[in-house]
Amino acid sequence: MDSKNYHNIILLYKIILIYGLCLVFSKAELPRFAHATKSDGSLILLVVGDWGRRGTFNQTEVAIQMANVGRLVDPDFIISTGDNFYEDGLTCVDDPAFEESFSNIYMGPEQWYSVLGNHDYRGDVLAQLDPILNQKDARWICLRSFIISTDVADLFLVDTTPFVDKYFTDPEDHTYDWRGVLPREEYLSNLLKENHVDIYVNGHDHSLEHISSSDSPLQFLTSGGGSKAWRQTIRPWNPQELKFYYDGQGFMTMALTENGVLFQFHDVLGNILHQWSGSKGFET
Ligand SMILES: *[C@@H]1O[C@H](CO)[C@@H](O)[C@H](O)[C@H]1NC(C)=O
Repeated sequence: MDSKNYHNIILLYKIILIYGLCLVFSKAELPRFAHATKSDGSLILLVVGDWGRRGTFNQTEVAIQMANVGRLVDPDFIISTGDNFYEDGLTCVDDPAFEESFSNIYMGPEQWYSVLGNHDYRGDVLAQLDPILNQKDARWICLRSFIISTDVADLFLVDTTPFVDKYFTDPEDHTYDWRGVLPREEYLSNLLKENHVDIYVNGHDHSLEHISSSDSPLQFLTSGGGSKAWRQTIRPWNPQELKFYYDGQGFMTMALTENGVLFQFHDVLGNILHQWSGSKGFET
């Protein structure tokens, strides 16, 4: 496995979905949201990333399909893997991009839980985290790192942008707003914990992707197709592990039950491009 690629996939932000009941998070310092499952004990999510472009680059088309699929599967909530507002985050809490790229684009009633991406750090990073946005649109919740607890899974939403060395050592012509992150070593050591993670979900790459680890039960899922895509910069990957790669727009649905997980990748026309299911403890 090419270690550079591995780094890109694993450490470029955003969600670590932890799937299991008997999980102990040694220092319970992260904010925690309790969310009910459905009456049958299942949990259904939509996951989208890399989206806020005032509807352009098929953002609106993806949003329409999310609403269509949402009416069918009745998601419990939506997760954004980050890069919420292009190109440089929000300028302030009154930036109209909040309405133009979020409130006016996504139609479903579901709660969103969002983390930050590298582009979000290039604006006023505190604006996206400000509870005032939740007053403007109650669907919006964005924190740095937090936990969503449900009966069937604990979801760890981890802000991994500060994990990427390059953004600190070689920011090129970008300016990052690292308020609340420095000193960086302390920030990282508090986040890196030993946990039995089953599924890792990230955005950042403008694609939909599924990689199965060959030496562990981990499934790596990328949902970063919320708007601009078609970059044609496909990184090579071990074909034994690469189950699916789509260099275009779309989003992911995920259903978790006591016994297993099913996820599906959808494109802008609502087609299911790839799906995978596994039982709980799917390594054995
Ligand atoms: C929008 O989606 C269609 C269908 O996948 C694709 O052919 C088209 O190139 C996309 N447009 C943009 C701007 O990405």
